[in-house]
Amino acid sequence: MVVNITDYRLQLRSHDFCLLVFVSWFLSFHFLLLPYLPIFRSMKKRFYIETYGCQMNEYDSEILTGILQSHDYILCNSAEEADVILLNTCSVRDNAELKIHSRLGELKHLKDNNPDLKLGVVGCMAQNLKKELIDTKPYVNMILGPDSYRDILKHLGAEETHIIDTKLSKFEVYDGLFPARKEGVNAWISIMRGCDKFCSYCIVPYTRGRERSRSIESIVDEAKRSIDQGFVEITLLGQNVNSFDHEGDKFPALLKALTKVDGLKRLRYTSPHPQDVDEELMRMHAEYKPLIANHIHLPLQAGSDAVLKAMNRTYSQEHYLQLVDMIRKYVPDIGITTDIIVGFPEETDADFRETLKVMEYVKYDNAYTFKYSPRPYTKAFKMGDTVSELDKSARLTELIVMQKAHTLERLRQMIGKDVEILVEARSKKSSEEMRGRTACNKIVVFPKGNYKPKDLITRRITDAQGVTLFSRPNN
Ligand code: 5AD
Ligand code: SF4
Repeated sequence: MVVNITDYRLQLRSHDFCLLVFVSWFLSFHFLLLPYLPIFRSMKKRFYIETYGCQMNEYDSEILTGILQSHDYILCNSAEEADVILLNTCSVRDNAELKIHSRLGELKHLKDNNPDLKLGVVGCMAQNLKKELIDTKPYVNMILGPDSYRDILKHLGAEETHIIDTKLSKFEVYDGLFPARKEGVNAWISIMRGCDKFCSYCIVPYTRGRERSRSIESIVDEAKRSIDQGFVEITLLGQNVNSFDHEGDKFPALLKALTKVDGLKRLRYTSPHPQDVDEELMRMHAEYKPLIANHIHLPLQAGSDAVLKAMNRTYSQEHYLQLVDMIRKYVPDIGITTDIIVGFPEETDADFRETLKVMEYVKYDNAYTFKYSPRPYTKAFKMGDTVSELDKSARLTELIVMQKAHTLERLRQMIGKDVEILVEARSKKSSEEMRGRTACNKIVVFPKGNYKPKDLITRRITDAQGVTLFSRPNN
């Protein structure tokens, strides 16, 4: 017993001693090294990333940011203060590539002043132009295609001054990497990558490779982690989001699994291909309304059967319109938006009128409209660029005028209705008002009251102007 007590005291004493040593080490470490901390911090490399193009590129930039931030890189706010500059690029239209060429020209002087600066071009244009880019702009150090981001640290640490990594993968879905998202209401989650549809005008199947999907478990896991981080809305992302197929698990099964995630206030997805929109999907919308938002982006691209066939869109005008009827049968108040291209090779004025006819029938809530841009490697490229710039412009103008009228008409149909709004932020125009989004994806402005971002509220719509709804007591 006695021996035990002595032991115990001895233990205590040695414990105290250890504590003393630790505290003095801790203090000396901090006081001596404190002045040098900025030096340690500056040993971290600063990176700057600029993103062009679609939402998938935004997501990929978040993946890249996540990888770099977890390995001694810190994100900075301007190219001028960076050790590494990344341009995440788009190739979908010629003007997107022109923008990058001119931005690279602007950045060249930074490389001239600082030879250690690493300048990387990543994404679709990197995939598309590869060596040509380094040959014409030798000050670019790194070309990474959309499937090579996992290796970015290896490439940044390499001795070589010019690196090209553009292998496309049949499997890469960036599973297990958590994107570094900016704080907000909505978290984007990529569920599939690539495209197998090969629309004849589109470069995406060549720059992003074949379709592949993530597992439902990994997507649900990312959704839960996003909710834990404070996001309340999730938008599922994919080049053909509803072609999702992971070992036989299809898109409706994924939606169903996500509806069970606690804390999720709204679920969206973009963009589906009309070919894969079916009654099962619309039944899910009807059953899980309002959690699954009543909005669908349904790219039309063109209204004439001849053009649709040449575009390889796999549906006719009649089929598309039947689809719209089916969608509205299940969810009558659904918001429908679209993408339209004018001036596809050989598109006649009569063909273009067919596009306007579909627009008149559907009365889209909104439309993204583009002039056809020939893309090398695509099938349509071989058809030439037969519609003059003048005709393309005239058609685009006519289409935009019609769409503006439809957008306002659809907004006005909501006046007097009570709608659910997910609060997003202060209104840009007035500090006394806030803005939020309806499930059918329309912006609403309303008095700020005690509302906070991420609240799900119900208010009556009182007015509509331009592309915005208003809910104001005096209207
Ligand atoms: N020219 C013009 N628009 C195009 N898009 C895709 N490829 C082209 C092209 N070569 C449009 C389609 C697609 C959207 C993302 O971009 O409308 O849905
Ligand atoms: Fe391009 Fe067509 Fe694939 Fe969409 S579906 S990414 S337009 S090829």
